Amino acid sequence: MTATTVRHFPMLVGGEAVDSEQLLEIRDPQNGELMATAAAGGAKEIDAAVEAAKSSFASGEWSRATPTHRAQVLHAVADKLGERLDELVELEIMANGATIRQATGFHVGYAAPHLAFFADLAAKYEFETPMPRATFPVLGQSTLRREPIGVCGAIAPWNFPLLLALWKFAPALAVGNSVVVKPDEKTPLTTLEFGRIAEECGLPKGVFNVVPGPGPEAGARLASHPDVGKIGFTGSTDIGREVMRLASGTVKSVTLELGGKSPALVLEDADIDLAVDGVLYGCMLYSGQICESMTRLLLPDSIHDEFVERLVARASTIQLGDTRDWETDMGPVVSAKQHERILGYIASGKEEGATVALGGGVPKGEQFERGHWIEPTIFTGVRNDMRIAREEIFGPVLSVIRYGSEREGIELANDTPYGLASSVWSSDNSHALEVADKIQAGSVWINDAHQINCEVPFGGYKQSGVGRELGPHALDPYTEVKNVHLDLSGRRDARPYDVLLSHADD
Ligand code: NAI
Ligand code: MG
Repeated sequence: MTATTVRHFPMLVGGEAVDSEQLLEIRDPQNGELMATAAAGGAKEIDAAVEAAKSSFASGEWSRATPTHRAQVLHAVADKLGERLDELVELEIMANGATIRQATGFHVGYAAPHLAFFADLAAKYEFETPMPRATFPVLGQSTLRREPIGVCGAIAPWNFPLLLALWKFAPALAVGNSVVVKPDEKTPLTTLEFGRIAEECGLPKGVFNVVPGPGPEAGARLASHPDVGKIGFTGSTDIGREVMRLASGTVKSVTLELGGKSPALVLEDADIDLAVDGVLYGCMLYSGQICESMTRLLLPDSIHDEFVERLVARASTIQLGDTRDWETDMGPVVSAKQHERILGYIASGKEEGATVALGGGVPKGEQFERGHWIEPTIFTGVRNDMRIAREEIFGPVLSVIRYGSEREGIELANDTPYGLASSVWSSDNSHALEVADKIQAGSVWINDAHQINCEVPFGGYKQSGVGRELGPHALDPYTEVKNVHLDLSGRRDARPYDVLLSHADD
């Protein structure tokens, strides 16, 4: 690609395209080619975006519009996302290296239906709930109101740039908030494009602002900004902790979706072929760069060897290649930094005595010389206290751990600081359900993986996060609850005033 075809993306602040001296370079992870540039902001640009969001909120044009109107606008945006799917897919894969199949089916493909889901929720949301009229101690009526918070911030990662930002800004918008989104520095394009589409569809200027920029500057300012009332964040557990600390200064509410080390617990009665495919899908999809990836495979002694043999044979068929080719199964990892980090984990697995049963390095061949490629890698003989079993690798690396009794298998599944997701593999449903009860994780998928469905909540136990996204209550975290009490008695004496004032003479 020549320099003349490199597209430039300004920030979106107050409905205006805003440029800055600081530029982000968007490079294709499969070969390092420069694909686009984006303007980057810091604290100053975040402040301007928060100011624009604040005044758009105060204008009431969006915040006080009817729920039906807001739902209509968001539905129009969802329709446009669907129409422009191919173009958005290209913007996503040029920055994050997903394959065209993954981005069309999942990364971008989920955005329109998920947005429509939030719009539908908002259209029927109970913004006002009258409470039973009380006659004791006096006649009065309380009404519970759900109000938008004001300005909400979203800090998004690079793995599902549009979708994970949308899980935050869409419920916020649906109930009337204004938002400021800080995408990851590598992947701001689809969120910026979303902003343009939303304004074309009637979202008032200033309601949706996007400031790409470095996390420690732009992200940290957003998390600590006194005029931001809520932060939704997805990313690493370390930065999640930092966001929580920054948000504590002004006692903001936070929703955090953080790391994972999810187990795939295969029971003795599992259907092995079904489980082999499911485990590979669970671990290797999008080169393992998914928070809920099933990265620890727990196998009972009795079927261990046969399972590993079939697993390695099946994993060997995974085709690495051009991300824009529909035949490709797996693309590169996102960046040089992640590449180095993953290779470091692979080295640590070898040093700690695990056995490489498949892969374990950079694939051979000319097309893999540039870009950030890693082979699908399977370690056997892993102990649950090794780094490759404890820490989030975020690459195509599966750690196989064997267990004796089922109780031991369940203990190993839960022996992790994380608790985002898990899977249980068994051909006996009641057996699987019994085991699912004992797993400490926000999702337990029985004979399945990556069942991300907007109808059900998603989020983690333990250090995998705080709160839940999606599901029937997805809008609640973007609202404040207000109780408005109306006295209907007009009587001074009928209140329990005698604890303070005497009405003996009344
Ligand atoms: P990260 O946690 O640094 O990045 C996530 C977001 O936080 C980005 O938008 C980043 O700019 C922002 N950020 C960084 N520092 C910040 C700060 N001080 N204040 C506010 N915002 C800040 O993740 P990174 O470095 O891209 O990846 C490192 C590891 O994190 C991965 O290997 C993976 O283990 C994990 N991760 C987990 C994700 C998930 O889906 N749960 C997504 C991305 C990364
Ligand atoms: Mg970081």
